[in-house]
Formats: sequence, C-alpha cells, structure tokens
Amino acid sequence: FDGPLTDRFGRVHRDLRISLTDKCNLRCTYCMPAEGVPWLAKQNLLTTDEIVRVAEVLARLGIVEVRLTGGEPLLRPDLVDVVRRMAAIEGVDGPLQVSLTTNGIRLDRIMDDLVAAGLQRLNISIDTLDAARFAELTRRDRLEDVLAGIEAAQRSGLRPLKLNTVAMRGVNDHELRDLVRFAIAHEAELRFIEQMPLDAGHIWSRVEMVRGEEILEELGREFDLQPYGERGSSPAQEYLVDGGPTVVGVIASVTAPFCGACDRVRLTADGQLRNCLFAREESDLLSLLRSGGSDEDTARMLRKNIEGKRAGHGIDDPGFLQPDRPMSAIGG
Ligand code: GTP
Ligand code: 5AD
Ligand code: SF4
Repeated sequence: FDGPLTDRFGRVHRDLRISLTDKCNLRCTYCMPAEGVPWLAKQNLLTTDEIVRVAEVLARLGIVEVRLTGGEPLLRPDLVDVVRRMAAIEGVDGPLQVSLTTNGIRLDRIMDDLVAAGLQRLNISIDTLDAARFAELTRRDRLEDVLAGIEAAQRSGLRPLKLNTVAMRGVNDHELRDLVRFAIAHEAELRFIEQMPLDAGHIWSRVEMVRGEEILEELGREFDLQPYGERGSSPAQEYLVDGGPTVVGVIASVTAPFCGACDRVRLTADGQLRNCLFAREESDLLSLLRSGGSDEDTARMLRKNIEGKRAGHGIDDPGFLQPDRPMSAIGG
C-alpha cells in the first residue's frame, strides 16, 4: 500500500462505483429517451474477471467500498457471482463493503442469494406509488415488480435499506409525503434527489428542478424534521422524522453539492475510469488491461485520473457543458 488515493484538493478516495451494464429495463424520462440509447458493444464490456482484477488492485490502494450500479445492474446475468467475488476481496481495513443501487425489478427472485453472497447495503429507486404515473415516467408498466422487490428487501432484513426518489415538478412533487409514509411502513430510509443535468435528451432545466429547500418545506407540512448525523462524504443530508426511528435524506447535489467531500471514483461498464459524474475526460483502462497492462500500470492510471479531478461539478459555471454520456452509461 503506497499511500492513499489523494487528489489535488486533499480528498482521499475510498469509494468505487462500478457500472455493470448500460442497459436498463425502464426508460425514466430524466435518464433515457423512449427508444433507449445506442448500447455499448458487447466486446467492449469488462468481463467479470477484469472487474475483479481491477477491484483487487484498487482495494490495495485504499478503496474500501464498492457500489454496483448500471444502467440496471440486475440485468447482469452473473450479478450474484460478482457480489460474491467482490465481497471476498481484502482491502486495507478488511473485506470490501459491497453495495448495490437498483430499480428493484427482479430483485425478489435473487434477494436472498445476494445477501448470502455478501451484499451489505441496498438502495432502490422509486419515484412514484401511482401505477399510471409510474408507467408514464418510466415508460414501462412495472410498478408491481418494483414493489415486490422492495418487499423482498424488507423481508431479507438487510439494513439500512434506502429508497431513492428523484423529485420532479408536476410529476411526483405532490406525492412526497405519501412516499415518506411508505418508507416508514417499509422500515426504509427515503432520500429525495434533486434532478441533475445527466439525461440523454438534454432537457434538464434549473427552473423545473425541485430544489432541496422546497422538498423540506413540503415535508414540513406533515412531519417534524430534525437534522441527523454528519453529511461527511455522503450525498444526503439526513433528518429524523417525528423523533425517529425513520430517517429521510435530501440529496441536493445541485443547490448544495457535496463535491468538497467527494471520495468517489467510477468505472464504467466499458472500462473507463471517471473521477466525477461530470468529468470531461475518462481514462481508458479497458485498452490498458487488454494490451497486457500490469497491476502497477492500473494503479498509475488511477492515480493520474484522480489527480485530474476538478473541485466540483461546475453546473453553475458559465461555460457548463452537460457530459456527453447519459447517467445510464456513466453509472448512477
Ligand atoms: P450511500 O452510500 O448509501 O449514501 O449511496 P449513494 O447515495 O452514494 O448512492 P446511490 O447510488 O443511491 O445514489 C443516490 C443519488 O446520489 C444519485 O441519484 C445521484 O443523484 C447522487 N449521486 C451519486 N453519486 C454522485 C456523485 O458522484 N456526484 C453527484 N453529484 N451526485 C451523486
Ligand atoms: N439526476 C439525479 N438522479 C438521477 N438518477 C438517474 N438520473 C438522475 C438525474 N438526472 C438516479 C436514479 C437512481 C440513482 C442511481 O440515480 O433515480 O436512484
Ligand atoms: Fe434505468 Fe435508472 Fe435510467 Fe431509470 S434512471 S432508465 S432505472 S438506468
């Protein structure tokens, strides 16, 4: 171990987010167009052996947590195997902590296998509890499947169980309090997310975005919210609901960024290292690995990538350019 993964601003990187596929079985309007996006070519996707090898190297460099994302990670046929192999990797503080962010579809079928494989934490996206609105928003009529996934997660006993809701004006902004009641009933922590400019159609607008402050005001009509815990390197500011035990979070990535404490680095499904959702460059680890690069070469590429990390996402900068790739390709 030759020192932590520190960038120019002193941020130490401990959290690796791996996108296992760019594909998805939903078409959320804030993410993908109805027809989908051109999928990555199969031969350019990292194999499971390659992913495990990279994670082993990064664990020696101080990465302690790996979050598996997509697209939709449950579409990866060998997901349980990926979790098992990741959870067996020794990091500097013990085994890697493995977590998953999913839309919940098909989760009921593999929840127990995931827990047995060593999954530690689970975040499930749910933007509405209304079947018709769900179908409109995701362009697929699958709310029932998502609810089955959440029930399975609750039954599994894995905690904390987190739910993610992107707040959208005129879509689900009148449903926020219903969602909190749903979270209380399912022993879950609910986080409301400000929509970021990461959609494939580039339709994001600041005016349409529901701001964190507005979310708190709306929740305050029904619940007593007390700030809870330190935000640290987590994107969410948390609040205790009516004295607890339920916690809600607000992820105000746009109006109150957590970039100053960011400890994340990403690996896309096609093997590109990316130091930020909004980074302008990626490092081509796929080519390095496939041209016979050594573990030392991987370590060097990662350190160089992290050195180039900018101070923040820059959404408020005059010349801000939305990333070329949508969130489904970068990894959530
Ligand atoms: P926890 O470790 O459980 O706090 O997970 P998480 O919140 O980091 O992960 P999750 O995949 O559930 O992401 C929730 C939301 O956080 C996403 O919808 C994003 O809006 C936001 N988010 C995740 N990573 C980043 C990031 O690197 N930068 C920014 N700006 N937002 C992020
Ligand atoms: N802004 C904020 N969050 C987003 N997500 C997807 N697209 C966006 C966006 N443009 C969320 C998903 C999921 C998490 C991985 O990212 O809803 O909860
Ligand atoms: Fe799929 Fe997630 Fe994008 Fe929705 S936000 S289309 S669930 S990748």
